[in-house]
Amino acid sequence: MDNSDKIILMKKIKKAVLPVAGFGTRFLPATKATPKEMLSIIDKPLVQYAVEEAIEIGIEEIIFITSPSKYSIKKHFDKSKELEEKLRSLGKDDLIEKLNPSKFDDIKFHYIVQNEQKGLGHAISLAEQLIQDEPFAVLLPDDLFFSNDSCLNQLKRSYEISNASIIAVNEIELEDIHKYGVIKPGNIKDNLIEIADIIEKPEADEAPSNIAVCGRYILNSSIFNKLKDVLPDKTGEIQLTDAIKLLIDDEMVLACIYKGEKFDCGSKRGFVEATIAISLRDIEIGDEIKNVIKKI
Ligand code: G1P
Repeated sequence: MDNSDKIILMKKIKKAVLPVAGFGTRFLPATKATPKEMLSIIDKPLVQYAVEEAIEIGIEEIIFITSPSKYSIKKHFDKSKELEEKLRSLGKDDLIEKLNPSKFDDIKFHYIVQNEQKGLGHAISLAEQLIQDEPFAVLLPDDLFFSNDSCLNQLKRSYEISNASIIAVNEIELEDIHKYGVIKPGNIKDNLIEIADIIEKPEADEAPSNIAVCGRYILNSSIFNKLKDVLPDKTGEIQLTDAIKLLIDDEMVLACIYKGEKFDCGSKRGFVEATIAISLRDIEIGDEIKNVIKKI
């Protein structure tokens, strides 16, 4: 065998899956008519932060797994020529880039409807027809990450070295462990951990560690076959975590310890925390908000 036989052809990560079909019960009544992913941190909906993070690493196609009632997500990413013309006629050209960001111009947006709420794993499995045998990213828009080197970029770099499916993780307080997928760490090298086992939302006394799964993944297409073998959990949902657990039997799966800030915007506390943090950094309103907080 010459050297050329040993070269593993690296497949480019061109597609990202964003599951956005959940009910958003924690934010009712705000989410009665507005999808939770459309709730805004200042002036940008959560889902747009995730889409931008994906585009920044070179993703070309965004696949939303959505529900029939979430029409506004499609409307948000469709170019609005009518509004653009109106803003131009009002001399408000500076807002046009905000309305129809040019970085979305070459991005293809797909919408797959998940008719039943059968869990994250089921949502991801619906993307198989569009992904085929390519590696792909998964972003859960509830989790908002802030760092100069984005969470997805940190995963991408490690994926390019290892070619292994890779999940973002961070250390959390044990009292919160029951809200997350939790890994049992195997070999550790720098910020990369080989996953020995993984369990979805364990009780604190059953958790194999305090290292929790965050909402960013890069997965090889081998996950689709595993998703077909996963049985529904006690709530009737197909968990992505359970498919990853099956994948570990066949191939190495890595966890990457995310370096940066993370806000759990699926919870009221995280949502408010993100709003405060981002507004304090805003060039236009940051100083004002600092004074407002002092006053309160
Ligand atoms: C999902 C995953 C879980 C992960 C979490 C991160 O749970 O199933 O493993 O830790 O996202 O936010 P969810 O928050 O959708 O219940």
